[in-house]
Amino acid sequence: MRRIHVIGIGAGDPDQLTLQAVKAMRDTDVFFLLDKGEARSGLVGLRRDILDAHLPEGTYRLVEVRDPERDRAAGGTAYSPAVGDWRSARAGLYERVIAEELGADESGAFLVWGDPALYDSTLGILEEVLERGAVAFEYDVVPGVSSVSALAARHRTGLNRVARPVQITTGRRLAEGLPDGVDDVVVMLDAHRAYERYTDRQGEDIDIYWGAYIGTPDEILLSGPLAETAPRITEAREEARRRKGWIMDTYLLRRNPRD
Ligand SMILES: C[S@@+](CC[C@H](N)C(=O)[O-])C[C@H]1O[C@@H](n2cnc3c(N)ncnc32)[C@H](O)[C@@H]1O
Repeated sequence: MRRIHVIGIGAGDPDQLTLQAVKAMRDTDVFFLLDKGEARSGLVGLRRDILDAHLPEGTYRLVEVRDPERDRAAGGTAYSPAVGDWRSARAGLYERVIAEELGADESGAFLVWGDPALYDSTLGILEEVLERGAVAFEYDVVPGVSSVSALAARHRTGLNRVARPVQITTGRRLAEGLPDGVDDVVVMLDAHRAYERYTDRQGEDIDIYWGAYIGTPDEILLSGPLAETAPRITEAREEARRRKGWIMDTYLLRRNPRD
């Protein structure tokens, strides 16, 4: 039976790799590396560095898989169908490479950024491949250090306050409003700077803990009261995005109780 490891590799710092991840990598014959295009080739580069650092040359094969294009312009009600189409395209691609590149008794691996359980489609896509029924395999999941854990660690803060909830959401959702009943909100995948909408909320005291490229040599961290920190974040963010061509950032918004 074919076997597949879905391995979380941490969110940018190669030292975040766990011993469990290294063990799973040593048990892998074929690594499937997803290439998301030129601008993000640094992310593929990190995966290659991780393999070079932990596995002797010639003990594994590498298969590069070019990510299908996604309709990123689709918004509103078109968003979910666009994501659905793209997942199916990816499922077709994964099905083909698993069938063609992985021998019947071999093990393959996907090296997933951060933790595979958080805003990552690999698990859903593998389930879709299994459902299609054309190729059979077993798979397991190795957790990784997520960008959320890395953000909290770099700012030396907890995510929740005592006995209070914390919510992880997307920039798209935050743009619709701050969630009710939750004062600590972690925001990922925010291409449109949704935090800017909450800079002049009368009667509310909100702090932000922001990080970009966390764990990498380009890391930027900023924190403080949202109203005064937001413009500094926007400036740093735009400058970094121009320089590198892409950005990945995550932040915690923390609503403080009024005295
Ligand atoms: C598709 S999600 C993948 C999340 C990943 N599975 C994890 O556990 O962190 C991509 C988002 O993760 C966040 N992200 C990932 N790596 C990051 C890093 N090194 N620094 C800041 N944010 C990061 C950003 O919000 C980015 O938009």
